Amino acid sequence: MNSPGARRIVLGVSGGIAAYKAAELTRLLVKDGADVHVVLTAGGAHFVTAVTFQALSGNRVWTDLWDPSMSNNMAHIDLTRGAQAIVVAPASADFLAKLANGLADDLLTTLCLARQRAGLDGALADCPLLVAPAMNRQMWESPATQRNIARLIDDGVVILGPAAGDQACGEVGQGRMLEADELFEDVISHFQPKLLAGRRVLLTAGPTFEPIDPVRGITNSSSGKMGFALARAAHEAGAQVTLVSGPVSLATPRGVARVDVQSARDMRDAVISRVQGNEVFIAVAAVADYRPAETAQQKIKRSRELRTLTLESNPDILAEVAALPRPPYCVGFAAESENLEAYASAKRISKNIPLIVGNLIQDGLGADDNRVILFDDNGSTPLAPAPKLEIARQIVAHVARRIHPHR
Ligand SMILES: Cc1cc2nc3c(=O)[nH]c(=O)nc-3n(C[C@H](O)[C@H](O)[C@H](O)COP(=O)(O)O)c2cc1C
Repeated sequence: MNSPGARRIVLGVSGGIAAYKAAELTRLLVKDGADVHVVLTAGGAHFVTAVTFQALSGNRVWTDLWDPSMSNNMAHIDLTRGAQAIVVAPASADFLAKLANGLADDLLTTLCLARQRAGLDGALADCPLLVAPAMNRQMWESPATQRNIARLIDDGVVILGPAAGDQACGEVGQGRMLEADELFEDVISHFQPKLLAGRRVLLTAGPTFEPIDPVRGITNSSSGKMGFALARAAHEAGAQVTLVSGPVSLATPRGVARVDVQSARDMRDAVISRVQGNEVFIAVAAVADYRPAETAQQKIKRSRELRTLTLESNPDILAEVAALPRPPYCVGFAAESENLEAYASAKRISKNIPLIVGNLIQDGLGADDNRVILFDDNGSTPLAPAPKLEIARQIVAHVARRIHPHR
């Protein structure tokens, strides 16, 4: 059922109310092409049945250390050998305690202890283990759980969450498992090469909105999807990311600090006050070139017959950042309706920036996929049409090669 070469993930599900979210996580991973093998603890099986996970993953579900159906009876060894990661969601307090102490009294704890995977060069390495704690706030805050978590971090286990909020028991506090889509993002992010580890990246995304009066304004067509994908890709690559966004209705990528602005001048101020200390600045926003010279404080009535708008120029944020005494590595975007190469190259020269990403408006505006060409001192690099997140990862890799040419 799964394609050959698919990323294999062992998903452990232990006994917590949040086990229902693991079904959605399975679905998201499978939809993304992963080959998911679910291991259900006895506790987990009280909350969600093996049938659900088998139907969603297309693979048999493992529950019993003593199950003889694997030919050598060694599921606890063999399941992780071809796996890229073990993800345990939810990870109960009980499971975490066992893991921290090296107990191995059921299939999940035993395979976590025996985990190993084949590296790219064939050498064996520890299979990465990511756990998503889920429990009542008192259980989470208890000294025993905190001691176990500290020990697991020391042992190299990646802890995802937990979040704070309403709990199934009716209490409010820390200990809620992350939502399935958040876990999915974190797991996928874990697999991306950390090409920008320790770097700081500032981006702009979306349109700007230049008010004419309290209900009208001038804006540009921009969904913000490309900028948000780039913010996500930079975060996945290990960077500390700040995203200055115009008005869009998109969820903030995990781990990204977002600053919401409306007008070009707000965006300019937000960028200039934060740019210092960033190694990379990526200007994806479709900033309005002009704004109304005056903004009416009250709604302009139809009877006033406003026929002429006087406009004035907005600041050129990218050019201003590129002209700083020690500018970050600046990346611009050029969305053109024709003559892409000539216009994008001219924009790169006029703004004095090292890299510009050009795309034809008909290829990407508002869509989930894009087709772009990168222009820099080395010439042009066309990228194959792909989903915006894929394109964003390739742009991040290109930027990382330019700022660390020797890596
Ligand atoms: C209704 C109910 C809900 C529970 N929810 C949680 C939970 O959210 N987190 C947790 O750590 N334990 C929870 N427990 C306790 C665990 O299920 C219990 O510690 C069990 O032994 C865990 O087994 P496992 O870690 O092997 O799956 C809950 C128990 C019950 C009866």
